[in-house]
Amino acid sequence: MSGNPYQEDRGNKDASITRPGMGGEIEHRDSGPARAASADSFLVGEAMTGGYGKGPDILHDCTIAVDRGEIAVIVGPNGAGKSTAMKAVFGMLNMRSGRVLLDGEDITALSPQDRVKKGMGFVPQVRNIFPSMTVEENLEMGAFIREDDIRTTMEQVYDLFPILRDKRDQAAGELSGGQRQQVAVGRALMTQPKVLMLDEPTAGVSPIVMDELFDRIIEVARTGIPILMVEQNARQALEIADHGYVLVQGRNAHTGTGKELLADPEVRQSFLGG
Ligand SMILES: Nc1ncnc2c1ncn2[C@@H]1O[C@H](COP(=O)(O)OP(=O)(O)O)[C@@H](O)[C@H]1O
Ligand SMILES: [Mg+2]
Repeated sequence: MSGNPYQEDRGNKDASITRPGMGGEIEHRDSGPARAASADSFLVGEAMTGGYGKGPDILHDCTIAVDRGEIAVIVGPNGAGKSTAMKAVFGMLNMRSGRVLLDGEDITALSPQDRVKKGMGFVPQVRNIFPSMTVEENLEMGAFIREDDIRTTMEQVYDLFPILRDKRDQAAGELSGGQRQQVAVGRALMTQPKVLMLDEPTAGVSPIVMDELFDRIIEVARTGIPILMVEQNARQALEIADHGYVLVQGRNAHTGTGKELLADPEVRQSFLGG
């Protein structure tokens, strides 16, 4: 490896972790007023309605999306349906209505595994690593759909999260909370995703570790991988968000750019502590 594409130049546009042809280009940013996600977002769960099994609907006409080159953040109170919306986009929920589009293609009928093959990476909120396996084995498991050489991608993940290189032979379950989240994100990157979905990547970590994780997430986004992320740390997350969604009781309550939501008096009052 010549140099570290992630650490040395924080403003890099390196696209090496993305698939060939995906490009690392950052497209224009929509700085206009809040607008609903549209079918030309790179990934969109559109007007999703549904729940678990035969239970009541959890999502009600809920839309979340991320555009090329962007970070989109979903915030809202506990139990609002944020994780459920992410699971719906990943194909883990039977929706009664709504659809999921990836790069313009309707993938609503695809299984989660087929969505991974199409380029979706997903880090769930819970059970997102194999604790008894080593760090490196976790990364290898992440690459399960690949038949080509995964070494280069693994080195890129180690460059992004150097602590994981040091701990590559340790059981992942022995790592700190922040390090385990790095394993989980690294595992998802091993498929060379075209889009990354993260459900509370900073859960249970200290503010300093949270800042570090956000920095890494921004770096991943700069390599050309759009990021759709649920976050408890609403204020900090909206600060790095191109677009934000506030969900309440399975519905879209507020949508806008991160800046707009941070400035919205109602959002501040209800969700950001004033
Ligand atoms: N596996 C499940 N089976 C049934 N209900 C669930 C399941 N997971 C979550 N729920 C319910 O769905 C609602 C939304 O939960 P969730 O999506 O986890 O919210 P959030 O991620 O915003 O905290 C809650 O009422 C929760 O009890
Ligand atoms: Mg959740």
